[in-house]
Amino acid sequence: MANKVKLNDSNSTRVPAGDLQKQLLSIFQGVGTPEHHAEIAAKVLVSASVRGVDTHGVANVVGYSQAIENGVYTIPQQTKVITESETTALVSGGNGIGLVSAYEGMEIAIEKAKNYGLGMVSIRDGHHVGMVAYYAMMALEHNMIGMSMTTAAPAVRPALGARKMLGTNPIGFAAPAGAERDFVLDMATSTVASGKVGLARRLGVPIPEGWAVTNEGKAITDPPDGENDTWSLNPLGNTREQGSHKGYGLAMMVDILCGVLSGGGFSSQLARGENMSWVMAIDIARFRDVDDFKAMMDDMIGELHATPPMPGEDRVLVAGDPEADAMDDRLANGVPVENGQYAAIKARAAEVSVEILI
Ligand SMILES: NC(=O)c1ccc[n+]([C@@H]2O[C@H](COP(=O)([O-])OP(=O)(O)OC[C@H]3O[C@@H](n4cnc5c(N)ncnc54)[C@H](O)[C@@H]3O)[C@@H](O)[C@H]2O)c1
Repeated sequence: MANKVKLNDSNSTRVPAGDLQKQLLSIFQGVGTPEHHAEIAAKVLVSASVRGVDTHGVANVVGYSQAIENGVYTIPQQTKVITESETTALVSGGNGIGLVSAYEGMEIAIEKAKNYGLGMVSIRDGHHVGMVAYYAMMALEHNMIGMSMTTAAPAVRPALGARKMLGTNPIGFAAPAGAERDFVLDMATSTVASGKVGLARRLGVPIPEGWAVTNEGKAITDPPDGENDTWSLNPLGNTREQGSHKGYGLAMMVDILCGVLSGGGFSSQLARGENMSWVMAIDIARFRDVDDFKAMMDDMIGELHATPPMPGEDRVLVAGDPEADAMDDRLANGVPVENGQYAAIKARAAEVSVEILI
């Protein structure tokens, strides 16, 4: 079945990325976010939309700005180091905007990697961090490998289990290439991010079998409400035969690094919207010459791209290709914003008394 859970020209409006950045910045500032934090939050959300990760993009400014207004997110926020060594830090995100605490956590990791080759930071007291690979990708411009993860409240069943117990606990991993595009893996450890079920609901299209299941084990194609506990997303792999225990294991690994290591709590201990995170930066130059590393990355990516495709497929991709393609299109032609969400962003701008810029 073709994936219909996508934006297209009839369900979305194209807006230049620069206008979205200005609009989001003004909304965040409109609810009192200090300018440098508003800049970061806007930048991460616009980047997700530009990369085609629409579920974690610009529309989230509405909910985040409401969370600030309602005092769920604390601003001005302070990212505080609780304890640290040369290469590690336990950080509190100060219960502020998750995008900002993960960004500042990765800045700390990169600084440590510059000084000692490696930086690893576990972040507690945080909120939703959006597209998790953003933070891994921050390492690229420093010729480092980046990794990022986040844990959230339950949406996914454990393998063989019939209740939501784990977050969609995504993993981001970024490594720089030379002539090829950088490798960027950005994946939920469930079959899909839960935002895609919400998107299908709003677009009125079915979801593919294998994404979600009822507590009685029946496959769901009519996208259900995320708040409802009678169903769950499947762990990556979906069935026992297809390796659901591996997606489940990865989700627990994320929970351990983000929630248990930080002490902030694992998925089922978290309230909806609460997220604990973990980031790492590795300085490639501490291992080998950076240009040689990138040349070998190019060889690997080139070989994989050259693999003969399966019948019916155009080409073999590597992780990051779909998002890089989306970025090329969206920077040239504007970023599609789902029609209902386009209206909601403008309404939110009016509500917080800032100029409508999109
Ligand atoms: N903050 C949170 O709590 C949270 C939770 C879950 C997911 N997310 C985000 O949701 C987004 C979507 O997650 P998802 O798991 O649905 O992503 P996805 O399934 O769309 O993509 C997963 C990865 O697969 C790669 N990919 C896609 N097609 C490929 C192909 N043919 N060959 C090789 N690689 C390919 C993509 O580049 C991407 O790196 C991500 O940005 C993720 O960070 C966030």
